[in-house]
Amino acid sequence: MTKKHYSESFTFKSGVTLKNRFIMAPMTTKMSFFDGVITEDEKKYYYLRSKDIGAVVTAAANVSEGGKGWEGELGIHDDRHLAGLADLASAIQRNGTKAFIQLYHGGRMTNSSVLRGVQPVSASAVKAERPTAEEPRALEEDEIYQIIEDFKQGTIRAIEAGFDGVELHGANTYLIQQFFSPHSNRREDKWGGSVENRFRFADLLTDTVIETVKAYAKRPFVVGYRFSPEEYETPGIRFGDTLYLVDKLADKALDYLHVSLGKYDLTSQSEEYKEKSMLAYLNEVINNRTAFMSVGDVRGGEEALEALEHSDLVALGRVMLADPHFVSKVLNDREDTIRFTVADEEREELGLTNGVWQFMQNMMSDRIN
Ligand SMILES: Cc1cc2nc3c(=O)[nH]c(=O)nc-3n(C[C@H](O)[C@H](O)[C@H](O)COP(=O)(O)O)c2cc1C
Repeated sequence: MTKKHYSESFTFKSGVTLKNRFIMAPMTTKMSFFDGVITEDEKKYYYLRSKDIGAVVTAAANVSEGGKGWEGELGIHDDRHLAGLADLASAIQRNGTKAFIQLYHGGRMTNSSVLRGVQPVSASAVKAERPTAEEPRALEEDEIYQIIEDFKQGTIRAIEAGFDGVELHGANTYLIQQFFSPHSNRREDKWGGSVENRFRFADLLTDTVIETVKAYAKRPFVVGYRFSPEEYETPGIRFGDTLYLVDKLADKALDYLHVSLGKYDLTSQSEEYKEKSMLAYLNEVINNRTAFMSVGDVRGGEEALEALEHSDLVALGRVMLADPHFVSKVLNDREDTIRFTVADEEREELGLTNGVWQFMQNMMSDRIN
Protein backbone atom coordinates (compact mmCIF):
# COMPACT_ATOMS: atom_id res chain seq x y z
CA MET A 1 0.00 0.00 0.00
CA THR A 2 1.41 3.41 -0.91
CA LYS A 3 1.76 5.84 1.96
CA LYS A 4 -0.55 8.81 2.20
CA HIS A 5 1.06 12.22 2.04
CA TYR A 6 -0.29 15.40 3.59
CA SER A 7 0.39 17.40 0.43
CA GLU A 8 -2.06 15.30 -1.63
CA SER A 9 -5.56 16.53 -2.36
CA PHE A 10 -8.48 14.62 -0.88
CA THR A 11 -12.06 14.17 -2.10
CA PHE A 12 -14.84 13.35 0.38
CA LYS A 13 -17.75 11.00 -0.42
CA SER A 14 -19.98 14.02 -1.00
CA GLY A 15 -17.62 15.31 -3.70
CA VAL A 16 -15.98 18.21 -1.79
CA THR A 17 -12.24 18.29 -2.58
CA LEU A 18 -9.51 19.60 -0.26
CA LYS A 19 -6.23 20.83 -1.71
CA ASN A 20 -4.23 19.02 0.98
CA ARG A 21 -4.86 16.76 3.96
CA PHE A 22 -4.41 19.37 6.70
CA ILE A 23 -7.48 20.70 8.53
CA MET A 24 -7.56 23.39 11.19
CA ALA A 25 -9.05 21.73 14.31
CA PRO A 26 -12.13 23.35 15.85
CA MET A 27 -10.97 25.84 18.49
CA THR A 28 -13.19 28.02 20.57
CA THR A 29 -12.14 31.65 20.38
CA LYS A 30 -14.58 33.30 22.83
CA MET A 31 -14.58 36.26 20.46
CA SER A 32 -18.27 36.54 19.52
CA PHE A 33 -20.71 39.15 20.83
CA PHE A 34 -22.91 38.32 23.88
CA ASP A 35 -25.64 37.02 21.54
CA GLY A 36 -23.39 34.80 19.40
CA VAL A 37 -23.00 37.22 16.48
CA ILE A 38 -19.50 37.10 15.01
CA THR A 39 -17.10 40.02 15.52
CA GLU A 40 -14.64 41.61 13.10
CA ASP A 41 -11.79 40.30 15.30
CA GLU A 42 -13.04 36.77 14.86
CA LYS A 43 -13.30 37.07 11.08
CA LYS A 44 -9.76 38.44 10.98
CA TYR A 45 -8.52 35.54 13.13
CA TYR A 46 -9.92 32.99 10.64
CA TYR A 47 -8.85 34.97 7.58
CA LEU A 48 -5.26 34.87 8.84
CA ARG A 49 -5.36 31.10 9.24
CA SER A 50 -7.02 30.06 5.97
CA LYS A 51 -5.56 30.01 2.44
CA ASP A 52 -2.84 27.33 2.73
CA ILE A 53 -4.77 24.73 4.70
CA GLY A 54 -7.24 22.24 3.13
CA ALA A 55 -10.15 23.13 5.43
CA VAL A 56 -10.93 25.01 8.61
CA VAL A 57 -13.40 23.68 11.17
CA THR A 58 -14.69 26.68 13.11
CA ALA A 59 -15.09 26.96 16.86
CA ALA A 60 -18.12 25.21 18.34
CA ALA A 61 -21.30 27.11 17.38
CA ASN A 62 -24.36 26.52 19.53
CA VAL A 63 -27.55 25.38 17.86
CA SER A 64 -29.92 26.00 20.81
CA GLU A 65 -30.18 28.98 23.12
CA GLY A 66 -30.06 26.56 26.08
CA GLY A 67 -26.93 24.88 24.73
CA LYS A 68 -24.63 27.88 25.11
CA GLY A 69 -21.46 26.77 26.88
CA TRP A 70 -19.55 29.99 27.53
CA GLU A 71 -19.48 33.74 26.98
CA GLY A 72 -18.22 34.79 23.56
CA GLU A 73 -19.43 31.60 21.89
CA LEU A 74 -20.36 31.61 18.24
CA GLY A 75 -24.11 31.18 17.66
CA ILE A 76 -26.04 29.49 14.85
CA HIS A 77 -29.40 29.26 16.61
CA ASP A 78 -31.10 32.28 15.09
CA ASP A 79 -31.41 33.89 11.65
CA ARG A 80 -29.72 37.01 13.02
CA HIS A 81 -26.47 35.04 12.92
CA LEU A 82 -26.72 34.41 9.17
CA ALA A 83 -25.06 37.54 7.77
CA GLY A 84 -22.00 37.20 10.01
CA LEU A 85 -21.74 33.47 9.33
CA ALA A 86 -21.80 34.16 5.58
CA ASP A 87 -18.88 36.60 6.05
CA LEU A 88 -17.06 33.98 8.10
CA ALA A 89 -17.50 31.29 5.43
CA SER A 90 -16.14 33.57 2.72
CA ALA A 91 -13.23 34.74 4.88
CA ILE A 92 -12.15 31.12 5.24
CA GLN A 93 -12.79 30.20 1.59
CA ARG A 94 -10.36 32.65 0.04
CA ASN A 95 -7.91 30.80 -2.21
CA GLY A 96 -9.82 27.57 -1.96
CA THR A 97 -9.74 26.60 1.73
CA LYS A 98 -13.00 24.81 2.62
CA ALA A 99 -15.09 26.06 5.54
CA PHE A 100 -16.79 23.65 7.95
CA ILE A 101 -18.72 24.85 11.00
CA GLN A 102 -18.88 22.80 14.20
CA LEU A 103 -22.44 22.33 15.52
CA TYR A 104 -22.72 22.04 19.27
CA HIS A 105 -24.93 21.87 22.37
CA GLY A 106 -23.19 22.09 25.76
CA GLY A 107 -25.71 20.08 27.79
CA ARG A 108 -24.56 19.91 31.42
CA MET A 109 -21.17 21.50 30.63
CA THR A 110 -22.42 25.04 31.12
CA ASN A 111 -23.95 26.97 34.00
CA SER A 112 -26.95 29.10 34.90
CA SER A 113 -24.87 32.28 34.75
CA VAL A 114 -24.03 31.75 31.05
CA LEU A 115 -27.69 30.76 30.52
CA ARG A 116 -28.93 33.91 32.32
CA GLY A 117 -30.64 32.09 35.19
CA VAL A 118 -31.79 28.99 33.31
CA GLN A 119 -30.75 25.57 34.63
CA PRO A 120 -28.57 23.54 32.20
CA VAL A 121 -30.08 20.37 30.70
CA SER A 122 -28.70 16.92 29.96
CA ALA A 123 -29.74 13.31 29.39
CA SER A 124 -30.14 12.89 33.19
CA ALA A 125 -29.95 15.02 36.33
CA VAL A 126 -26.34 14.04 37.07
CA LYS A 127 -23.61 16.59 37.72
CA ALA A 128 -20.30 16.46 35.86
CA GLU A 129 -17.35 15.50 38.06
CA ARG A 130 -15.73 18.90 38.41
CA PRO A 131 -15.75 21.27 41.35
CA THR A 132 -18.03 24.00 39.97
CA ALA A 133 -20.50 21.74 38.13
CA GLU A 134 -24.23 22.46 38.50
CA GLU A 135 -26.86 19.75 38.54
CA PRO A 136 -28.62 19.70 35.17
CA ARG A 137 -32.32 19.00 34.56
CA ALA A 138 -33.13 15.79 32.66
CA LEU A 139 -34.60 16.53 29.23
CA GLU A 140 -38.23 15.60 28.54
CA GLU A 141 -38.71 13.50 25.41
CA ASP A 142 -40.25 16.35 23.37
CA GLU A 143 -37.24 18.51 24.29
CA ILE A 144 -34.88 15.84 22.96
CA TYR A 145 -36.68 15.96 19.60
CA GLN A 146 -36.54 19.78 19.73
CA ILE A 147 -32.75 19.73 20.13
CA ILE A 148 -32.47 17.39 17.13
CA GLU A 149 -34.62 19.91 15.25
CA ASP A 150 -32.22 22.68 16.41
CA PHE A 151 -29.30 20.76 14.85
CA LYS A 152 -31.37 20.51 11.67
CA GLN A 153 -32.00 24.27 11.65
CA GLY A 154 -28.30 24.90 12.36
CA THR A 155 -27.42 22.75 9.34
CA ILE A 156 -29.83 24.70 7.13
CA ARG A 157 -28.26 27.99 8.31
CA ALA A 158 -24.76 26.61 7.61
CA ILE A 159 -25.87 25.74 4.05
CA GLU A 160 -27.50 29.15 3.57
CA ALA A 161 -24.41 30.95 4.88
CA GLY A 162 -22.29 29.22 2.23
CA PHE A 163 -20.26 26.81 4.34
CA ASP A 164 -18.87 23.66 2.70
CA GLY A 165 -19.85 21.41 5.60
CA VAL A 166 -20.77 20.86 9.24
CA GLU A 167 -19.05 18.86 11.96
CA LEU A 168 -21.29 17.42 14.69
CA HIS A 169 -19.59 17.93 18.04
CA GLY A 170 -20.04 14.53 19.63
CA ALA A 171 -16.81 14.89 21.65
CA ASN A 172 -15.26 16.59 24.69
CA THR A 173 -18.12 15.74 27.11
CA TYR A 174 -20.81 17.94 25.50
CA LEU A 175 -24.47 16.97 24.99
CA ILE A 176 -24.12 14.42 22.18
CA GLN A 177 -21.45 12.60 24.20
CA GLN A 178 -23.56 12.99 27.37
CA PHE A 179 -26.27 10.83 25.80
CA PHE A 180 -23.72 8.14 24.91
CA SER A 181 -22.03 8.21 28.33
CA PRO A 182 -23.33 5.94 31.11
CA HIS A 183 -22.14 8.64 33.55
CA SER A 184 -24.39 11.45 32.33
CA ASN A 185 -27.11 9.20 30.89
CA ARG A 186 -28.97 7.18 33.55
CA ARG A 187 -32.30 7.21 31.69
CA GLU A 188 -34.58 4.22 31.84
CA ASP A 189 -36.53 5.00 28.65
CA LYS A 190 -35.50 4.28 25.04
CA TRP A 191 -32.72 6.95 25.24
CA GLY A 192 -30.74 5.24 28.02
CA GLY A 193 -29.56 1.97 29.54
CA SER A 194 -28.04 -0.34 26.92
CA VAL A 195 -25.30 0.88 24.58
CA GLU A 196 -27.86 0.68 21.73
CA ASN A 197 -30.19 3.02 23.62
CA ARG A 198 -27.42 5.43 24.61
CA PHE A 199 -26.46 5.60 20.93
CA ARG A 200 -30.04 6.50 19.89
CA PHE A 201 -29.58 10.28 20.21
CA ALA A 202 -26.39 10.37 18.10
CA ASP A 203 -28.00 7.97 15.64
CA LEU A 204 -31.15 9.99 15.05
CA LEU A 205 -29.28 13.29 15.09
CA THR A 206 -26.77 12.14 12.47
CA ASP A 207 -29.48 10.71 10.21
CA THR A 208 -31.48 13.93 10.52
CA VAL A 209 -28.51 16.10 9.57
CA ILE A 210 -27.60 13.85 6.62
CA GLU A 211 -31.24 13.97 5.38
CA THR A 212 -31.29 17.75 5.82
CA VAL A 213 -28.20 18.14 3.66
CA LYS A 214 -29.76 15.92 0.97
CA ALA A 215 -32.88 18.05 0.98
CA TYR A 216 -31.34 21.55 1.20
CA ALA A 217 -27.77 21.62 -0.18
CA LYS A 218 -27.50 22.65 -3.82
CA ARG A 219 -23.80 21.75 -4.08
CA PRO A 220 -21.60 19.10 -2.42
CA PHE A 221 -21.69 19.56 1.35
CA VAL A 222 -19.71 17.64 3.99
CA VAL A 223 -21.09 16.11 7.19
CA GLY A 224 -18.49 15.04 9.75
CA TYR A 225 -18.80 13.71 13.29
CA ARG A 226 -16.32 14.24 16.14
CA PHE A 227 -16.07 11.88 19.11
CA SER A 228 -13.88 11.37 22.19
CA PRO A 229 -12.55 7.83 22.59
CA GLU A 230 -12.95 7.33 26.35
CA GLU A 231 -13.90 8.90 29.67
CA TYR A 232 -12.17 8.71 33.03
CA GLU A 233 -15.34 8.68 35.19
CA THR A 234 -16.90 5.48 36.49
CA PRO A 235 -19.27 4.62 35.00
CA GLY A 236 -18.04 6.19 31.78
CA ILE A 237 -17.42 5.59 28.09
CA ARG A 238 -14.79 2.89 27.61
CA PHE A 239 -12.83 2.31 24.42
CA GLY A 240 -14.94 -0.78 23.63
CA ASP A 241 -18.11 1.42 23.66
CA THR A 242 -16.40 3.81 21.25
CA LEU A 243 -15.54 1.01 18.84
CA TYR A 244 -19.29 0.22 18.80
CA LEU A 245 -20.18 3.91 18.18
CA VAL A 246 -17.64 4.28 15.40
CA ASP A 247 -18.66 1.03 13.73
CA LYS A 248 -22.30 2.21 13.64
CA LEU A 249 -21.42 5.71 12.43
CA ALA A 250 -19.08 4.43 9.72
CA ASP A 251 -22.06 2.74 8.04
CA LYS A 252 -23.82 6.07 7.55
CA ALA A 253 -23.39 8.51 4.68
CA LEU A 254 -20.98 10.61 6.77
CA ASP A 255 -18.01 12.23 5.02
CA TYR A 256 -15.66 11.79 7.93
CA LEU A 257 -15.18 10.71 11.53
CA HIS A 258 -12.88 12.86 13.64
CA VAL A 259 -11.35 11.57 16.86
CA SER A 260 -10.53 14.05 19.63
CA LEU A 261 -7.12 13.18 21.12
CA GLY A 262 -4.50 15.18 23.02
CA LYS A 263 -1.77 13.22 21.23
CA TYR A 264 -2.31 11.26 18.01
CA ASP A 265 -0.51 8.09 19.16
CA LEU A 266 -2.16 7.70 22.59
CA THR A 267 -2.96 4.21 23.89
CA SER A 268 -6.28 3.28 25.50
CA GLN A 269 -6.74 3.02 29.28
CA SER A 270 -8.59 -0.30 28.72
CA GLU A 271 -6.49 -3.42 29.33
CA GLU A 272 -8.04 -5.17 26.29
CA TYR A 273 -6.81 -2.50 23.87
CA LYS A 274 -3.16 -1.89 24.68
CA GLU A 275 -1.54 -3.53 21.66
CA LYS A 276 -1.52 -0.45 19.47
CA SER A 277 -2.61 3.18 19.47
CA MET A 278 -6.30 4.09 19.66
CA LEU A 279 -5.88 5.65 16.22
CA ALA A 280 -4.78 2.28 14.78
CA TYR A 281 -7.74 0.41 16.34
CA LEU A 282 -10.22 3.05 15.17
CA ASN A 283 -8.83 3.09 11.65
CA GLU A 284 -9.18 -0.70 11.45
CA VAL A 285 -12.82 -0.58 12.54
CA ILE A 286 -13.65 2.22 10.11
CA ASN A 287 -11.91 0.24 7.35
CA ASN A 288 -12.27 2.95 4.68
CA ARG A 289 -16.07 3.13 4.98
CA THR A 290 -15.64 6.86 5.58
CA ALA A 291 -12.66 9.22 5.91
CA PHE A 292 -10.90 9.29 9.26
CA MET A 293 -9.39 12.48 10.74
CA SER A 294 -6.66 12.37 13.38
CA VAL A 295 -5.43 15.12 15.72
CA GLY A 296 -3.21 15.69 18.71
CA ASP A 297 0.07 17.52 19.06
CA VAL A 298 1.18 17.21 15.44
CA ARG A 299 4.08 19.65 15.25
CA GLY A 300 5.64 19.00 11.84
CA GLY A 301 5.62 16.97 8.61
CA GLU A 302 7.15 13.82 10.17
CA GLU A 303 4.44 13.62 12.81
CA ALA A 304 1.74 14.31 10.22
CA LEU A 305 3.01 11.38 8.14
CA GLU A 306 2.94 9.14 11.23
CA ALA A 307 -0.65 10.17 11.98
CA LEU A 308 -1.56 9.50 8.32
CA GLU A 309 -0.43 5.89 8.69
CA HIS A 310 -3.71 5.35 10.55
CA SER A 311 -5.93 8.14 9.19
CA ASP A 312 -6.76 10.03 6.00
CA LEU A 313 -6.66 13.63 7.23
CA VAL A 314 -4.76 15.43 10.00
CA ALA A 315 -6.24 18.22 12.12
CA LEU A 316 -3.97 20.90 13.60
CA GLY A 317 -4.97 22.83 16.71
CA ARG A 318 -2.60 24.87 18.84
CA VAL A 319 0.17 25.08 16.22
CA MET A 320 -2.28 27.08 14.08
CA LEU A 321 -2.79 29.59 16.90
CA ALA A 322 0.91 30.26 17.32
CA ASP A 323 1.75 30.15 13.59
CA PRO A 324 -0.99 30.83 11.00
CA HIS A 325 1.53 29.89 8.28
CA PHE A 326 2.29 26.45 9.74
CA VAL A 327 0.93 24.58 6.69
CA SER A 328 2.74 26.57 4.04
CA LYS A 329 5.99 26.16 6.02
CA VAL A 330 5.54 22.37 6.20
CA LEU A 331 4.57 22.14 2.51
CA ASN A 332 7.51 24.29 1.40
CA ASP A 333 10.29 22.74 3.47
CA ARG A 334 10.57 25.70 5.82
CA GLU A 335 9.81 23.89 9.05
CA ASP A 336 12.80 25.49 10.75
CA THR A 337 10.92 28.81 10.68
CA ILE A 338 7.74 27.56 12.43
CA ARG A 339 6.87 29.57 15.55
CA PHE A 340 5.63 27.59 18.55
CA THR A 341 5.48 30.37 21.12
CA VAL A 342 3.68 33.68 21.18
CA ALA A 343 4.98 36.72 23.03
CA ASP A 344 2.49 39.14 24.50
CA GLU A 345 3.38 41.84 21.97
CA GLU A 346 2.73 39.44 19.04
CA ARG A 347 -0.86 38.73 20.04
CA GLU A 348 -2.40 41.49 17.97
CA GLU A 349 -0.56 40.55 14.80
CA LEU A 350 -1.77 36.94 15.29
CA GLY A 351 -5.38 37.98 15.94
CA LEU A 352 -5.36 36.44 19.43
CA THR A 353 -7.68 38.68 21.45
CA ASN A 354 -8.28 38.33 25.20
CA GLY A 355 -10.79 35.50 25.08
CA VAL A 356 -8.76 33.14 22.95
CA TRP A 357 -5.55 34.17 24.68
CA GLN A 358 -6.89 33.17 28.11
CA PHE A 359 -8.33 29.95 26.77
CA MET A 360 -5.04 29.25 25.03
CA GLN A 361 -3.09 29.80 28.25
CA ASN A 362 -5.27 27.23 30.00
CA MET A 363 -5.02 24.69 27.23
CA MET A 364 -1.48 25.14 25.91
CA SER A 365 0.64 22.18 26.91
CA ASP A 366 4.23 22.51 28.12
CA ARG A 367 5.42 21.34 24.73
CA ILE A 368 3.83 24.30 23.02
CA ASN A 369 4.71 26.99 25.54
C1 LIG B 1 -8.08 27.13 22.55
C2 LIG B 1 -8.71 25.79 22.21
C3 LIG B 1 -10.07 25.71 21.97
C4 LIG B 1 -10.68 24.48 21.61
N1 LIG B 1 -12.02 24.44 21.28
C5 LIG B 1 -12.56 23.32 20.75
C6 LIG B 1 -13.87 23.32 20.21
O1 LIG B 1 -14.57 24.34 20.16
N2 LIG B 1 -14.34 22.14 19.70
C7 LIG B 1 -13.60 20.99 19.70
O2 LIG B 1 -14.08 19.95 19.22
N3 LIG B 1 -12.34 20.98 20.19
C8 LIG B 1 -11.80 22.10 20.69
N4 LIG B 1 -10.47 22.10 21.10
C9 LIG B 1 -9.64 20.88 20.94
C10 LIG B 1 -8.88 20.93 19.59
O3 LIG B 1 -9.78 20.80 18.50
C11 LIG B 1 -7.82 19.80 19.47
O4 LIG B 1 -8.47 18.56 19.51
C12 LIG B 1 -6.76 19.85 20.57
O5 LIG B 1 -6.28 21.17 20.74
C13 LIG B 1 -5.58 18.90 20.27
O6 LIG B 1 -4.95 19.26 19.07
P1 LIG B 1 -3.55 20.09 19.06
O7 LIG B 1 -2.60 19.29 19.89
O8 LIG B 1 -3.14 20.13 17.61
O9 LIG B 1 -3.80 21.42 19.65
C14 LIG B 1 -9.87 23.31 21.51
C15 LIG B 1 -8.50 23.40 21.78
C16 LIG B 1 -7.90 24.62 22.12
C17 LIG B 1 -6.41 24.68 22.36
